[in-house]
Amino acid sequence: MTQANSPTALTIRRPDDWHVHLRDGDMLSAVVPYTAHSFARAIVMPNLVPPLTARAEVSAYRDRIKAAVPKGVSFEPLMTAYLTDTITPAEIAAGFADKTWVAAKLYPAKATTNSDFGVTSVRGILPVLEKMAEIGMPLLVHGEVTDPSVDIFDRESLFIDTILALLCDRLPELKIVFEHVTTADAVAFVKSRPQNVAATITAHHLHINRNAMFQGGLRPHFYCLPVAKREIHRLALRDAATSGDPRFFLGTDSAPHLARDKESACGCAGLFTAPSALAAYLQVFEEESALDRFEGFASLHGPAFYGLPVNAQRITLRRSPSASAERVAAQISARDQHIVPFWAGEALPWKIEAEAAIPA
Ligand code: DOR
Ligand code: ZN
Repeated sequence: MTQANSPTALTIRRPDDWHVHLRDGDMLSAVVPYTAHSFARAIVMPNLVPPLTARAEVSAYRDRIKAAVPKGVSFEPLMTAYLTDTITPAEIAAGFADKTWVAAKLYPAKATTNSDFGVTSVRGILPVLEKMAEIGMPLLVHGEVTDPSVDIFDRESLFIDTILALLCDRLPELKIVFEHVTTADAVAFVKSRPQNVAATITAHHLHINRNAMFQGGLRPHFYCLPVAKREIHRLALRDAATSGDPRFFLGTDSAPHLARDKESACGCAGLFTAPSALAAYLQVFEEESALDRFEGFASLHGPAFYGLPVNAQRITLRRSPSASAERVAAQISARDQHIVPFWAGEALPWKIEAEAAIPA
């Protein structure tokens, strides 16, 4: 649904991705160039195996990421710590003070990929969270309950009611990013709180509802966690993302898995969206007649929340006529295997045309 009189080019500050999985080893080298092409910085998730809980491991991982960035491209990984039941307030604070990490990620144990070492009780880590509130360190939350009797489509809303609301009341100063929100309930919750509670929204949750996983058969490449929800939720996310409200910002949750691990009897959760995410977001803003708000969502709200400077560089995004549009690769190699990206084989409606530094 392209607007007839919509601009065909947009110049904005270079965007950042406030939630990405870059993995390690061959997978890391395969995926980093895609994120670094579109984004100046990214908040890198710590759910490796074993998880990143110590400063030395996180610093070494940052170095491996930087080594995978193509020459001539500027990209800064912003690192995170993985919260466990045993991590101490002192270690968390030390890593924040020496800038090893900028935030910590709360995975409820067994909620998602590589979360086995996650937190079994939020109450149990209150001393860590109190310390984070005291030092102004953001808590990044995977917001789903893990009780197997709870319907998978209700896990986010129940998390709000039984955990997140109580945590926000207990620690009203704590900066919280409710990651990859998927429901109207989550949007309403964030809006009901002060500015220290924000949310990331993925490109794929703006594009697909839960039918995508079942269209004509099981579609493992649309399976992620939290799973996509009903259409009313997708529409609420589109409203929030394009509203201009600074509490909502871009976080792709690009989460690559080898195709064989997704196309399996027990397929992994996660969509590799890095190659198409920026264009996919922009298409949403165009469809919602909100191109003037895209820069806020992609490039300004995140830095403001994290207390970081906005990027000096600008990029120009140009709408591609479909005949000449670049296509997303059907598959992307990772050593002798491959990854199937989101929008595999499809034409990209927008392309990054140029980068330019802003004169001081
Ligand atoms: O779909 C997902 N994939 N959700 C997550 O929370 C984790 C991620 C991954 O690491 O694969
Ligand atoms: Zn994630």
